Amino acid sequence: PATRSRFVYDFTGTAPVPFETDKVVTPEGFVWKPLVKWGDPIVKGAPEFDFDNQTAAAQEKQFGYNCDYVGLVKTGDDAGVLVVNNEYTNDELMFEASELSVEQLKVVMMAHGLSIVEVTRKGAEWTAHMGAGKNRRITASTPFEVVGPLRGSKLLATKADPKARTVLGTIANCAGGMTPWGTILSGEENFNGYFKAESAPAGQEESYARYGIDGEGRGWDKVDPRFDTAQEPNEPNRFGYIVEVDPLDPTSTPKKLTGLGRFKHEGANVTVAPDGRVVAVMGDDERFDYMYKFVSRKKYVAGSRQHNKKLLEDGDLYVAKFTGDGADDGVSDGTGEWLPLVVGGKSKVPGMSVEEVLVHTRIAADKVGPTKMDRPEDVEVNPVNTRVYAALTNNSKRVPSQIDEANPRANNKHGQILEITAPGNDHTKTDFVWKLVLICGDPKDPTTYFDGYDKSQVSPISCPDNVAFDGKGNLWISTDGNDLGNADAFFMMPLAGDKAGHLQQFHTVPHGAESAGPLIVDDITVLCSVQHPGEIEGRTPANPASLFPYDGTGQPRPSVIQLYVEKPTDEPGEPSPSP
Ligand code: FEO
Ligand code: CA
Ligand code: CA
Ligand code: CA
Repeated sequence: PATRSRFVYDFTGTAPVPFETDKVVTPEGFVWKPLVKWGDPIVKGAPEFDFDNQTAAAQEKQFGYNCDYVGLVKTGDDAGVLVVNNEYTNDELMFEASELSVEQLKVVMMAHGLSIVEVTRKGAEWTAHMGAGKNRRITASTPFEVVGPLRGSKLLATKADPKARTVLGTIANCAGGMTPWGTILSGEENFNGYFKAESAPAGQEESYARYGIDGEGRGWDKVDPRFDTAQEPNEPNRFGYIVEVDPLDPTSTPKKLTGLGRFKHEGANVTVAPDGRVVAVMGDDERFDYMYKFVSRKKYVAGSRQHNKKLLEDGDLYVAKFTGDGADDGVSDGTGEWLPLVVGGKSKVPGMSVEEVLVHTRIAADKVGPTKMDRPEDVEVNPVNTRVYAALTNNSKRVPSQIDEANPRANNKHGQILEITAPGNDHTKTDFVWKLVLICGDPKDPTTYFDGYDKSQVSPISCPDNVAFDGKGNLWISTDGNDLGNADAFFMMPLAGDKAGHLQQFHTVPHGAESAGPLIVDDITVLCSVQHPGEIEGRTPANPASLFPYDGTGQPRPSVIQLYVEKPTDEPGEPSPSP
């Protein structure tokens, strides 16, 4: 960076704070500021946020609700385009109403999806520019192109789209990733809950059950009948994908990448293998579900953006199996194998076609014997050591007979972080070794493990959800849910050197919020989504549990915040001194 602010990894760890604390607690010397908030008028012509007079037309142009993944595509040293997932809504906190009106339901639908906004930086502080040219909202009704093997599949055909080429909307976008070619990947996670499904349609009973499509939905069927499976039995088959968005072209049509399979996609992150093929690593966030990878058929070509933007349309899909080497060595580790589901355009699953494997991916995976994991959330490649890190958030339903070395605890309340090392750093290979670098919880709990570090020196941590990396390759972890009674937080753990395993807490988030979507920008700014502030049972706008971000609205507003050291050590604009 042109300016030299203090590096974010040079911080003194903070202590846990009680869950009820309604503030952002930062490390000494750091400040926090909102970057962009729910309702901010990001798209040109949007009205200012007005809590008491929300309309769908306004929300369609304003920053969405419940920000999660944060990506930044740089367009200059101090400029870029911010892309944020808006995973879901807290309808009970948006409106004082026991049942939403049709207009309120439309507001909710427009508050889902992604929000794209141009940003610039001065020192370490970013500013979001309302009405800028690349600003865009993608919502539950934005057209998406179906690409990959399921384009045209009858399993995705509906009355409105009999040729299965265009899906309206993306929902439940949780984590994501930035590709080396400057697009953003985003995972459609808990899509099943959006459909009214009084019964499963004939022929889809097994799939509806395996994906949990069995609820009342969110009332969206009152706005659009495709959310009622009695009207459109294939509509749920059009969600649960990784989507790819080009934030540099606001007129581009985003894509549903069907070759990466359909499940409760947490997110996807891409690395370029030594031979130029790209590998996307992914988690399916459900108790006892799996980790997956996709390997492109074609190779990455530096500088050829149009070519690279098609890499994720064609390739092979695998699911992970982990084998332990025994507990005697005192470490949860072993070897692993990527089991093929689709290779070279052919199904590797007995009795299932490629189309069936990619639509009913969970059922296909069940047939090949992968390892049932403790809720795989974010899975990312560390760009410094090229190893993969997976947040396995928790699994209260695992019983002692179901323990394995990668999922070593029954009634796992606190989760673990799994590291995958590919042979020769080549993630296209089907074998690997793995290790749990962190088994979360109170360090006094003998089942915890902090990469071998002295446990009297580390912070407690519970329910890892997202991972991120800084320029030194340190692992950063955000949490969602905390079974120790503390506020959700953001942590850093070095992975190499004599501090490896020295987990320290960075900042904490307000009452009821989750710390989500973190991004470390040039090692001087932490960006973080404060998701669902005030999400506490029984709370409504009349009695909010949080007033974050304390802007006088009188209501909680999910926001992306930034943390940095306010006073740079050099004058802004000066290059950093050589060491
Ligand atoms: Fe949306 Fe798996 O967290
Ligand atoms: Ca072992
Ligand atoms: Ca998540
Ligand atoms: Ca989560």
